[in-house]
Amino acid sequence: MKNVDSAFHVTGRSIYLDDIVVQQGTLYALPYDAPSAHAHVKKLDLSQAMAVPGVVRILTYKDVPGENQIGGIIPDEPLFVEKEIHFWGMPVALIIATSEDIAIQARKLITIDLEELTVITDPREARARGELIIPPRTFKLGDTKKAWAECAHVFEGRADTNGQEHLYIETQGAYAYPTEHGSIRISSSTQGPTAVQRTVARVLGVPMHKVEVDVTRLGGGFGGKEDQASAWATVVALASFLLKKPVKLAMHRMDDMRMTGKRHPYSSDFKIGLDKDLKIVAYEATFHQNAGASADLSPAVMERTLFHATNSYFVPNVEVTAYCCRTNLPPNTAFRGFGGPQGMFVIESAIAKVAQELGVSAREIQRRNLMQEGSEFSYGQIAEHVNATPAWELADKTFDFDTQQAEIDTFNAKSETHKKGMAIMPICFGISFTNTPMNHARALVHVYQDGSVGVSTGAVEMGQGVNTKMVQVAAQVFSIDPSRVKLESTNTTRVANTSPSAASATADLNGKALEIACNAILDRIKEKASRMLDPGSSPGQARPEAITIVNEAVLNNGQSTDLDWQQLIHACHWDRVNLSESGHYATPEIHFDKTKEKGHPFAYHVYGTAAVMVTVDCIRGTYVVDAVKLVHDFGKRMNDAVDIGQVEGGVVQGLGWMTMEEIVYNDKGRLLSNALSTYKIPDIHSVPKELRIETLPTDGHPMAIRRGKATGEPPLMYGIGVYFAIQNAVIAFRAERGEGVAHMVYSAPYTPERVLMDLYG
Ligand code: MTE
Ligand code: HPA
Ligand code: MOS
Repeated sequence: MKNVDSAFHVTGRSIYLDDIVVQQGTLYALPYDAPSAHAHVKKLDLSQAMAVPGVVRILTYKDVPGENQIGGIIPDEPLFVEKEIHFWGMPVALIIATSEDIAIQARKLITIDLEELTVITDPREARARGELIIPPRTFKLGDTKKAWAECAHVFEGRADTNGQEHLYIETQGAYAYPTEHGSIRISSSTQGPTAVQRTVARVLGVPMHKVEVDVTRLGGGFGGKEDQASAWATVVALASFLLKKPVKLAMHRMDDMRMTGKRHPYSSDFKIGLDKDLKIVAYEATFHQNAGASADLSPAVMERTLFHATNSYFVPNVEVTAYCCRTNLPPNTAFRGFGGPQGMFVIESAIAKVAQELGVSAREIQRRNLMQEGSEFSYGQIAEHVNATPAWELADKTFDFDTQQAEIDTFNAKSETHKKGMAIMPICFGISFTNTPMNHARALVHVYQDGSVGVSTGAVEMGQGVNTKMVQVAAQVFSIDPSRVKLESTNTTRVANTSPSAASATADLNGKALEIACNAILDRIKEKASRMLDPGSSPGQARPEAITIVNEAVLNNGQSTDLDWQQLIHACHWDRVNLSESGHYATPEIHFDKTKEKGHPFAYHVYGTAAVMVTVDCIRGTYVVDAVKLVHDFGKRMNDAVDIGQVEGGVVQGLGWMTMEEIVYNDKGRLLSNALSTYKIPDIHSVPKELRIETLPTDGHPMAIRRGKATGEPPLMYGIGVYFAIQNAVIAFRAERGEGVAHMVYSAPYTPERVLMDLYG
C-alpha cells in the first residue's frame, strides 16, 4: 500500500506547524538566548527592547506561575535562566510581539551583563572534575579480570564519535491559544504529545486536563523532538496563558541549531582480548558520554549504549561502564539509535584494531563471534530467534565478500592515487523502550454508521510512515478497503498518557493497541451479523464464530451471504451496538532490574549485515561510497515502500554521522557549525552509488506488529561500516608506502581532512 500522505506531500498540501491557519490577533514569540556557556547573570536589561513598537511583553523566569523546570528524568533543567547560565543558547527571555520581524528587531536590543565562569566542553574533563549527572553504571558478564589470562591477544585503544545535528526539515515550533475555563490548546511539532502536556501543566501550574496537545505530523524528528519539543511548546503556552492570546513560534534554523541539543558525542576507551582462534574472550569499555548541561534523556541514552556495547557479538566476559558527564553544551538528546550506535562504534573500533595489529581481516573476527541462539547478552537477556549468522551468511552468499575483496585488491594493486576499501557491518538492535514502564500504548477507534472508520492512536507521524501502517492494521483487522479508514491527528484528549513516538516501537505498540480495539468492535459486529443471518436464534444462540468478513463481504461458515460491511454497520448502529472502542497494549514478558543490571528488556532484536565499499582519493582525501549492500531482518514486512525507505534513510543518515557531519564548539562553548553553510549533511551525491537492500526470509516475530519488525532506527548503524571501509582503503595506501597502522585512531567523523592526516600522518 502507498504511503497515505505521499500525494499530499509531493503537492505541498500536507499540513505542518507553519501551515496551520492562524487566528486573528496571533502574536509571535522569539526566545532571547544566553550569549555565554557558563556565567552568572549580573544584569538583564529589557527596557530598550520593550520600547520597540509592537513588542507586547517580554517574559522571564519571574513570569512563570508554576515551576520553572522542564527536566523529564531529573529536575535539573530550568526553562528560563534564573541566576546562572549553563550553556550557550539557553533561553533567558521570551519576546512576544505582533510580528516576527518586530521580535527580531527587539531581540537585538536586549543587553546582558555577565560574570563568566569556567566552561567545560570535554566529557573526560567533566568526569575528572566529578561533574556527573548520575552515578556511573556498569554491565557485567563473566569475569574480565580473570579472562585476560586466557587471551592470546589483548589490545587497548580509544574511540571517539562526535555529535550529530538532527536537521529535521521542519524546525522546532508550536502554536498555542486559550480555550474556555482557563484551558489551553497547543499544536506542537513534538514526538511526545504527553511530554508536552505534562511539561506545560507543570510550568503553568495547572492540572494536565487543562492542556490539550494536538499533532498532525512532523517534518522529521529523529529523536530531536522526543523531549526537546517540550521547551518550545511550553514557552508559547506560557505566553498564551498569560496574555490570553494565540501565540506562535516557528524557530529559525540557526536559532534551532544553536539552542537545541544533538546526538551525544562519546569518548571511550576499550580493551579487547581474543584467543588464538580469534574468539573474543573478554571486552571492557569505558564510555564518557557528553551529556551537555542537564540530564534531558542522557541517562536513558547512556543505558542503551551499555545494552549495545557488544553489538552482534557474543562475548563471555564483559565489563562496560558509562559516565554521564555534565558539560556546558546544550543538553544532548535522543537521536536515531539512542546511544546504541555510539556503543557499537567502539567495539567495531576494537575489532578493527585487532585486525590491523594482527594482519587478519576484521571480517573473520566478526564472523567467528556472532551471537548464536541462546547466547547471553551482558544484561542477562538470552538471545532468541537470533538472525545474526543467517543475515551474515545470506549477505556473503549474495554479495560474495571474497570476490568483492579480491576485486578491491586487484584495483588497489593497479591504482596509485585511489584506493578502495571494504568493511562488513553486522547490526543487532533491541526493540522496546529500555525503560520498561514506557512500553504501552492506546488507540481509539470509531466505526461511523456509514461504515467509515476513524482511528486515533498515540503514534506521531514524523515521516517514518506510521500512519500508513496504522491504516493497514485497521483495514486488515476489519478486512475493509483502506480508503474507509482515516487516521486522525494525535491528540491528548483522544488518546491520553502516551509514550513518545520513539525507540522504533511506535508501530508495534500503537498498532497492537489498535488491533485490540478493532478486534473488540469486530466481535460485537460479528455477533450482530450472526443474529441477522440466523433470525430465529436468540442472542444467546447466535454463533458469531461462524462469521468472517473478507474484503467487506460478510461470510457465514465460509459461505457468502447478502450482507456486506456497510449494511452490517448500518444495522449495528440501529440495533444500538457500540461501534467505538479504546484499546490498550502493554508489551508482555519484558522486565529489567536496575539494581542488578539484569533482565529481559527487549521484546526482540533486529539483525542485519551490510557490506560497504568505498573509493578514497589518496591525493585529496576525498572519497565516494561505491556501494552499501545489505541483508536486513525485516520480519514479515508490512509495507515495502515504507520499510525500505526507512533503511535507505537510515543508511544515509548513519554515513553522514560517520563521515561529514562535524559539530564544532569552540572552547568557550559556542557552536561554530551553526548553519547549513558550516554543517554538511549528506546530499544526493553522498548516497551510495549502489544501495542494495535484500530481505532475510523469516517468519517475523510475534511481538512485532503483524510480525513485521521495527525498522526506524536499526539501519542507521549500517552507516558505521563506511568509517571502517574508508579506513581500510587508507591502510591499503599506507601499506603500499611501507607505513604501518600503529597510529590509527578511531575518531568519527572521518572527514576528508582526517583522511588526509591518516594517509600521510
Ligand atoms: N524517519 C523519518 N522519515 N523521520 C524521522 O523523524 N525518526 C527515526 C525513525 N525514522 C524518523 C524516521 C527515529 S529516531 C525513530 S525512534 C523512529 O523512526 C520512530 O518511529 P517508529 O517508532 O515508528 O519507527
Ligand atoms: N529509546 C528511545 N527513547 C527512549 C528510550 C529508548 O530506549 N527509553 C526512554 N526513551
Ligand atoms: Mo528515536 S532516537 O527513539 O526518537
